[in-house]
Amino acid sequence: MNKFTNRKRGVRTTAIHAGEAIDPVSRASSPNLVMSSTFAPTEVAGFSARNRQGYEGFVYARLSSPTVKQLEDKLAALEEAQSCQCYASGMAASSALMLGRLSQGEHLVISDTNYVGTAELVRDTLPRFGIEVTPVDMSDLDMVEGAIRPQTRMLWVETPANPIMRLADIEALSLLARAKKVRDVVVDSTFASPIATRPLALGADFVVHSLTKYIGGHGDAMGGAVLGRKSELDQLNLEATVHYGGVLSPFNAWLIMRGAATLPIRMKAHEETAIEVAKFLEAHRRVRRILYPGLASDSPGRRRPGAGQAHGRETGGRPLCRLARPSPQPDLLDTDRRPYALDLPA
Ligand SMILES: Cc1ncc(COP(=O)(O)O)c(C=O)c1O
Repeated sequence: MNKFTNRKRGVRTTAIHAGEAIDPVSRASSPNLVMSSTFAPTEVAGFSARNRQGYEGFVYARLSSPTVKQLEDKLAALEEAQSCQCYASGMAASSALMLGRLSQGEHLVISDTNYVGTAELVRDTLPRFGIEVTPVDMSDLDMVEGAIRPQTRMLWVETPANPIMRLADIEALSLLARAKKVRDVVVDSTFASPIATRPLALGADFVVHSLTKYIGGHGDAMGGAVLGRKSELDQLNLEATVHYGGVLSPFNAWLIMRGAATLPIRMKAHEETAIEVAKFLEAHRRVRRILYPGLASDSPGRRRPGAGQAHGRETGGRPLCRLARPSPQPDLLDTDRRPYALDLPA
């Protein structure tokens, strides 16, 4: 090992190189776009996930495919996850994880503020399958503890929560879930991206991303991802990917991989620009309140995710995300009346 390879890769190097390898046939150094839906396996392998019998090569693109696999490996490196499974959209990833892990009679506790598609999925769809759902302010640990039942199998935490940017303390929620024997802590980390927060390092079991947002970054490809432990992701692949079928197109994977290479420098630019916009609006006489965790005037205890994560690392992994007081939250699962940031009471 030379001096360079001996050192741990920085996040910018990881974003560019992780997951990508020189093609052994063409020696291409950039990722190949492999659109093939079928492959010629070197062993007898079936189309069912159950009869792959440990064969790791490619068979059929709904099970796994080379370009998507490169993106999955890059995302796993960025999140420091054992494994990643990509989907056709963020919602395909979320629904695969919920339906792949929860069964009739089980209970989900979820943020009362979520991306609207997630809010509608848990309000309208999960109850049809006998899965009970309790929405709760995830920034209030006492409320979360009160919502947990013996049947609770999953805590679903969206932080920062779309659209009000409310933060939740991932580490404290993970500890609470362990103590209460809740099996899965899931963090929808779309708005933070792996540059600002790495939920698995804070104790979460799964991370969900809409790759359509910052990770893809160019507004031209839908995608989603679930990250976590390999054994659980393999199990999810068996059911939620192979049977529900919401797989990511290789072309979208190729576009998203190209976008992900510049994620660290884009996130820096986003933060620098967002704080300028927030400060400008804060000083504007026609604007009543700004919800942006980077501003000192935002509710006490709210912190910008980047700052929270950096502080968490410096202080032994504790993020600065616990809110001093719960923010006022009407029933945000009622998406017909769902308030957006500017409608919230002061
Ligand atoms: C936080 C969050 N999670 C999930 C989604 C769903 O992602 P997609 O639009 O890729 O299905 C979105 C979309 O806006 C989102 O903002």
